[in-house]
Amino acid sequence: MTTMTTTTTTTVLEASGVTMRFGGLTAVRSVDLTVNTGEIVGLIGPNGAGKTTFFNCLTGLYVPTEGKVSYKGTVLPAKPHLVTDAGIARTFQNIRLFANMTVLENVLVGRHTRTKEGLWSALLRGPGFKRAEAASHARAMELLEFIGLAHKADHLSRNLPYGEQRKLEIARALASEPGLLLLDEPTAGMNPQETRAAEELVFAIRDQGIAVLVIEHDMRFIFNLCDRVAVLVQGEKLVEGSSEVVQADERVVAAYLGTPFEGAPGAAEVAEVEAAEAEAEAAAATPDDTAPGTTGTDNSGTSTTGSEGKSL
Ligand SMILES: Nc1ncnc2c1ncn2[C@@H]1O[C@H](COP(=O)(O)OP(=O)(O)OP(=O)(O)O)[C@@H](O)[C@H]1O
Ligand SMILES: [Mg+2]
Repeated sequence: MTTMTTTTTTTVLEASGVTMRFGGLTAVRSVDLTVNTGEIVGLIGPNGAGKTTFFNCLTGLYVPTEGKVSYKGTVLPAKPHLVTDAGIARTFQNIRLFANMTVLENVLVGRHTRTKEGLWSALLRGPGFKRAEAASHARAMELLEFIGLAHKADHLSRNLPYGEQRKLEIARALASEPGLLLLDEPTAGMNPQETRAAEELVFAIRDQGIAVLVIEHDMRFIFNLCDRVAVLVQGEKLVEGSSEVVQADERVVAAYLGTPFEGAPGAAEVAEVEAAEAEAEAAAATPDDTAPGTTGTDNSGTSTTGSEGKSL
C-alpha cells in the first residue's frame, strides 16, 4: 500500500499507529491511514468512534499517546501552526469563524501563514506590506469566487446561512494553500441541494491538486465522492477499501445499525404492519362501520399522509 510504484502517486499523509488515550479511555487505537496525491479519502464511523480525535491528532491539536504522522515524508511536530505551515488545513465539526468579521476578512485570516511580511512591515505599512496585502486580497477574492461567496465578501460571517458558513470555513482553510485538506462533517446542517453542491466543490478542490480527507455521516455523499473509505469503530479501523467494498461489508452495516436480530422485519413486513395499523385506526374512528369498508381505507389514506412534511 505504501510502496506505490506509479511515478505520479506520492504519499501526502501517512499516519501510523496513532493512539490517543484520555485517562482510561482509548479514543483512537493504533490507526494507520494513508492519503495519496489526487485522492479523496473518507473517514466514517458511528458517533464517538474517534474520528474528530483522529483529526486532532493529525493537526497537532492533540499529541498522540503513540504513533506518528508524516506529511510528504516529513514527521509533523504536534503544533497546530507548524502543521498548517507544512501544508495541512482543516475545517471544524463545530464551525469556527470570526462571527463579527466579514466574509473576506475571515479568508484573509486563513492566509496569514502564507504571507511573508512580518510584524514591523505590517505596522509600518511599507510598500512591501501594501503589495503583499493587495496580493492576499486578490487571492482571497479568488477563493470566494471559487466557493461561490464573492458576492457576500463584505457581509458579516454571522449573518450567513449555515450552509454558507460551512463553505466559508473551506475557503479559509484553502487560503493557507494546503496540499491536504481535512474536512470534519462539511455537510452537517446542509439541505440536499447544498450537499450536492458541496460534493462538486470537493471534487473541484481535488482537481486543483489538493488531497482531501473527509469525515461525514451522509453515506451517499461519502460513497459518491471517495476513492477510498476507512471505517472507525470504537477507535479502531475496522475496514478500509473502495466505496463499493465498504458499502457491501456486513461489519460496517452492523457497526452502524447494530447486528440485525434473527427474523428482523423487512420493508414488506413493515409496510404490512403500517397498513394494518392505519386500518385499525380508521375502524376506531368509525365505530358503526364494522366491515373493513371503503370509508375506513379512505380515512386511513388521508390521515396518515405525511408526504408533504419535512423529510429531515
Ligand atoms: N478532550 C477529550 N477528553 C476526553 N475524552 C475525549 C476528548 N475528546 C474526545 N473524547 C472522547 O473520545 C471519544 C471519541 O470522540 P470523537 O469526538 O473523536 O468522536 P467522533 O467519531 O468524532 O464522533 P461524532 O461523529 O459524534 O463527531 C468519545 O468517547 C469522546 O467522548
Ligand atoms: Mg466528530
